[in-house]
Amino acid sequence: MEEVNKANYEPQNVYLENKLLSVIERENYEVKALLDAIYKQYGYDFRHYAKSSLKRRIANCMAREKKTYISELIPCILHDPYFFDRFLQDMSITVTSMFRDPDLFKILRQQVIPKLSTYPAINIWHAGCATGEEVYSMAIMLEEAGLLVRSRIYATDYNNQSLKIAEAGTYPLENMREFSENYHQSGGMNSFSDYFKTDNNSATFNQNLRDKITFAHHNLMKDGVFAQMNFVLCRNVLIYFDQILQDRALNILNESLIPRGFLMLGDRESIEFSKVADDFEHFVKRSRIFRKKLF
Ligand SMILES: C[S@@+](CC[C@H](N)C(=O)[O-])C[C@H]1O[C@@H](n2cnc3c(N)ncnc32)[C@H](O)[C@@H]1O
Repeated sequence: MEEVNKANYEPQNVYLENKLLSVIERENYEVKALLDAIYKQYGYDFRHYAKSSLKRRIANCMAREKKTYISELIPCILHDPYFFDRFLQDMSITVTSMFRDPDLFKILRQQVIPKLSTYPAINIWHAGCATGEEVYSMAIMLEEAGLLVRSRIYATDYNNQSLKIAEAGTYPLENMREFSENYHQSGGMNSFSDYFKTDNNSATFNQNLRDKITFAHHNLMKDGVFAQMNFVLCRNVLIYFDQILQDRALNILNESLIPRGFLMLGDRESIEFSKVADDFEHFVKRSRIFRKKLF
């Protein structure tokens, strides 16, 4: 065999023109590597989140952590669970309010709650409840309809810090004025202050409301169904998902509902074009309230 003449051998590093990645390509490559690392390490599949908002959230995280390149986040994700907790906070947009969009809540009072009243027991699931304001709004409406006593409300999110706030049911007192206005616009007839106790600068919702709510961690990327629900609300959550993840989440929501159960989405969300579209009919079309078909 002919021996390689090492003295004459030179490595041939060939740099082809046009082979360098563009800035955008490099960024996409780094984002993909980061999301793969998160998925492998923690099972959270952000690969199916809408890319534009995902990149904005990653940029916020880099600014806070003083990183220049997206790929610098990867070792932090892999080796530091506390870092991942902070990253999850960056990823999760928790904007919410009580009786947010009061006209919608009026429709719930007038059209959905009377239908729910025909069931002996009422199970409701708020998926992506953030800090819980929407959930307390629901509990108050059920109380006023005389239905809270036979209702059980499940409220879930993948953001544990938000869930802690929701479970405590304590909010800044300064928020109560806006919540009260929304409550009355939604058709509330009582004094809103009857529903909470104040202490210094905070307000805590009454125990009888909180007793009816079970808060729990649930991740729409990977967790399963809540069986036998009469009403599922998942508002302003799917908007952050791509079509694949929307299909997964909608499938879970669909499977959780009894036949003739109600589904409510946010005003920029729909089941149209999803795999469950044929399983539902519109109940109040402009309010994104759907009703599951019998078969
Ligand atoms: C904008 S808030 C919506 C809150 C409330 N539903 C409303 O409309 O007022 C979106 C919530 O969805 C949650 N979320 C996002 N992705 C999630 C997932 N994969 N599983 C569970 N919750 C998720 C976020 O943590 C955040 O609390």
